[in-house]
Amino acid sequence: MKKAMIITYGCAMNVNESAKIKKMLMNMGYTMTETLEECDLVFLNTCTVREGAAVQIYGKLGELKQLKENRGAIIGITGCFAQEQGEALGKKFPTIDIIMGNQNIGKIPEAIDRIETGNFKNVVYVENKDELPSTLSAEFESKYIATIPIAYGCNNYCTYCIVPYVRGRERSVPMEEIISEVKTYIDRGYKEIILIGQNVNSYGKEKKDGSSFSKLLIALNALEGEFWIRFISPHPRDFTDDVIEAIAVSEKVAKNIHVPVQAGSSRILKLMNRGYSKEDYLFLIDKLKTKIPDIGISTDIIVGFPGETEEDFLDTLDVVEKVQYENSYMFMYSIRKGTKAAEMTEQISEEVKNERLQRLIKIQTLASKNTSNNYFEKTLTILVEGESKKNKEMLTGRTSTNKVVIFKGTSEMIGTFVKIKVNECKTWTLYGEIV
Ligand code: 5AD
Ligand code: SF4
Repeated sequence: MKKAMIITYGCAMNVNESAKIKKMLMNMGYTMTETLEECDLVFLNTCTVREGAAVQIYGKLGELKQLKENRGAIIGITGCFAQEQGEALGKKFPTIDIIMGNQNIGKIPEAIDRIETGNFKNVVYVENKDELPSTLSAEFESKYIATIPIAYGCNNYCTYCIVPYVRGRERSVPMEEIISEVKTYIDRGYKEIILIGQNVNSYGKEKKDGSSFSKLLIALNALEGEFWIRFISPHPRDFTDDVIEAIAVSEKVAKNIHVPVQAGSSRILKLMNRGYSKEDYLFLIDKLKTKIPDIGISTDIIVGFPGETEEDFLDTLDVVEKVQYENSYMFMYSIRKGTKAAEMTEQISEEVKNERLQRLIKIQTLASKNTSNNYFEKTLTILVEGESKKNKEMLTGRTSTNKVVIFKGTSEMIGTFVKIKVNECKTWTLYGEIV
């Protein structure tokens, strides 16, 4: 029995692509394992969005060298870091047998075949063709939650971000294809469909055939069955009124909306090329809160972008206090070679970045605690995901707004929607009982 493992770094798109690679490997007769020492094949699915990627991946490749020497395991690498580095990576690390670009993962079985049959020593595919990867089936971690890419690439060129350079320009998947894929998963009993893309609410724009994100949401909401639709990540600038309206009227669209702010200062937002000011952003949040009652908002924030002054940073804290996010993903700015911000002269010291991050985390934790308290004594529908990791007697699920709820239930409830009443609110977790 041949054994394989996929090690995934990075975003939801990578996790989705790993699920597809897993399916291909299983179809080829590989069994998945969590024990590296027994692997006959290892794929690294890499990320290059933030700092530390290279160090982490080089470290892992060092470990894999041993595995190759011991067992002759096949070592493959894919994802944005592999795409970015291309063939050079193979020269640096002769351990690697397969270098596969993001858009070429469909060729993995063919590449493995070539190595296994000894026809080739290594195989490199890193074409960044401006076409859509063919639809591949996936083996997700959960039997109830599926992620579905609706667009690949990004046209925004935020000045700190490497994504448009490695994942190419935005290409939307045709609406009929998405609808049919969603239908397939719902028919198989999936209860949560997460639409993914770098900028989901600009979906369809480049097609110029009338397809749009709001139309997609409405069409998916009309499908029969009991399920939730989530999406990550939208861009504040593309949050047009039709999108807000579609979320408000679609009862199957879950009400956690991730609205990446990145920075609070209008001056920094301009340097980031985000296309909105602090005021535009706060106006959008007000609109979302008014039109979508019971919304839970989350965000991404970068501290220490080049040139960020103390005053600019206070604008970020001000936005966090005003919006009261349930949750934020907070990052220190890190230089990505090849982006515009990497060339900016006023880079901020690590010390200042770290100090700002700690202050931000404090303010955000307070907001998370405040928003969590709003759930007290509320009766909510949750999707039950499984046993609680900490206490096997208890079950865990998530609300429409993505808040984790722990409660006592029975195993038949896993993968279904149940109603619970909240009786305790901690910062990150709610506790409740079935009603
Ligand atoms: N430095 C720090 N954070 C970054 N992100 C993207 N690029 C960088 C960078 N160079 C963050 C953004 C984005 C999230 C996925 O990663 O906040 O929304
Ligand atoms: Fe990067 Fe900006 Fe595109 Fe997001 S919207 S992937 S941050 S360029």
